[in-house]
Formats: sequence, structure tokens, C-alpha cells
Amino acid sequence: MSYHYNFKDVLGRSERITWRVEDIIGNGKSLDFSKLFMPENLARVDGLTFLTPTERRTLNQIRGHAYLSIFGLVEEFIVPFVLDHARPLINGEDYRTRAFLEFAAEEAKHIHLFRRFRQEFLRGFPVECKVIGPADAVAKHILSHHPLSVALVILHIEWMTQRHFLDSVHDDGTLDEQFKSLLKHHWMEEAQHAQLDTLMVESIAETMTPAEIDKAFDGYLEIGGFLDNGLKQQTAFDLEAFETGAKRTLSPSERDQFMALQHQANRWTYLGSGMTHKNFLDTLGRLSPGKRAMLEEIAPTFC
Ligand SMILES: [Fe+2]
Ligand SMILES: [Fe+2]
Repeated sequence: MSYHYNFKDVLGRSERITWRVEDIIGNGKSLDFSKLFMPENLARVDGLTFLTPTERRTLNQIRGHAYLSIFGLVEEFIVPFVLDHARPLINGEDYRTRAFLEFAAEEAKHIHLFRRFRQEFLRGFPVECKVIGPADAVAKHILSHHPLSVALVILHIEWMTQRHFLDSVHDDGTLDEQFKSLLKHHWMEEAQHAQLDTLMVESIAETMTPAEIDKAFDGYLEIGGFLDNGLKQQTAFDLEAFETGAKRTLSPSERDQFMALQHQANRWTYLGSGMTHKNFLDTLGRLSPGKRAMLEEIAPTFC
């Protein structure tokens, strides 16, 4: 197994990105609630034809709130995992150790950024929006899996972030500039994480047998199933926030349509768009061609 990424280059790129949370949010930089937050490719609110344009925008903003909150949630298990990975390396190769410590520090900064975003959101949005969790229980469950299963989930998340920004956010002129700036600054640092994760996955798998790798992949799928249940719960929370925020009670059939379309939209956002990312599939294919083929067969359910 080999890849062209190297720790010195990744660290160098990471050190050249120097934004602070205070530069991105607060101090007069506020969200514009007359604009959309999420690209339609991820939000998929237009399919809910029984909603008015204003109601669709309200739902789009609820989805934006959930999006950054869920990132905050997953980053709470990424930080301890990356620190655990870095700990035995501390007396080893300097660039490698520093690259992983920088990675963890950036994720801690992102958690802080998303918390600040949530405060700003609540200042301007009429109702409180619930989010799945609590983060420590989610982290505990995910971290109970084999390190390779967890590292694959993290790799999936990092490439997914890249795809969301480049394919759907970057060229979308309809989005709120403040929300877009948040996604942009996050994306800039995640680009290095995706590469470090690739190296981390490869180094964990290096000493494993093909059977152990396949078993760890099954653990990745198990975590995916766990997250999918959470996404269904999140969709129900979003429905509740929508009905309260829009002051509208949907009929039973409208609720069914809402749940079906929005759960699938959440599946695509957090699961399908990561598991079908070319670079994720390439790494998985190098570890286990059979499991790559299996994932490609499963993926359409989440797209
Ligand atoms: Fe992050
Ligand atoms: Fe990250």
C-alpha cells in the first residue's frame, strides 16, 4: 500500500491556514435568515411540493443548523481518536506527530466554531432545533469499534466534506454568505484531514490480515447503520422544529412524505456522498477489493 501524500507537505499546508473562530463568526458577522443555508443538492426540500417557498427556506435553515451540529457531534469522537493515534508516535517521526496533533487541534477549533454558530443561529431563528446525541454517548459507542472501522468512518466523513463544498456549495450564489464562509473555512482544513486519514487508515491496516480487515469493514458498516438510525431521529426532530417554526401542522400523509424524503436527503448528505467518494473507494479497494465491490452495491440505498 502506498500513497503520494506525505506528512511534511500536509503539515506545511495546514500551517499556512491560520483563521481563528473569532474571524469567522460573531463581531458583527451574522447570519442572514432571508437566504438559504444549504445547497439544494443536500437539503432536497424542493421535492416537498406542499410547502410554500418561505416554508422550504425555513426547512433549509433547519437542515443547515443540523448539518453543522452533526459535524460538531462527529468531531467529538474524531479528536480523542486522532490523539490516541498520535500518542505512541510522539517520539517518532517529527512531521508525522505534528501533523496529527495539528489535525486534532483543528477539529477542536471546528467544534468551537460550530458551537458559536449554534448560538448565532438561535439568536435569529424562532424556535430551538433539537439535535441527536448526546455527543459523549455517540462517541463512546463509535469508539468501541476496531480502530480501522473508526478510521474508515473518519475517512468517509473527511472526503464527504470535500465533496459537499466543491460539488454543491462553492458555486451556489443563492446561499447566505456567512454560512458559506463557515463551510469554506472548514473545508480548507478538512482537505488536509482527508489526506492524513488516508495515511492513518493505511498504517493501521498494515499489520492486519485480510480477514481482520474485512471484519473491520463490517464494523464500519455497523457504525453506518447506527448513524442511519440517528439520521431518522434527526429527521423527526427537524419535522418538529419545522412545524413549530413555520406554525403549520402537516397532515398525516404530508408528514409521511416529509419523513421519507428528508430521511433520504440526510442519508445522501452524511452516508451516500461519503461512501461513493472516489478517493474513499480507492483506499477501501486497496485494502479489500471484495469489500469495495460490496460497498458499491449497498451505496444506492443511501443516495
Ligand atoms: Fe472538522
Ligand atoms: Fe476533519
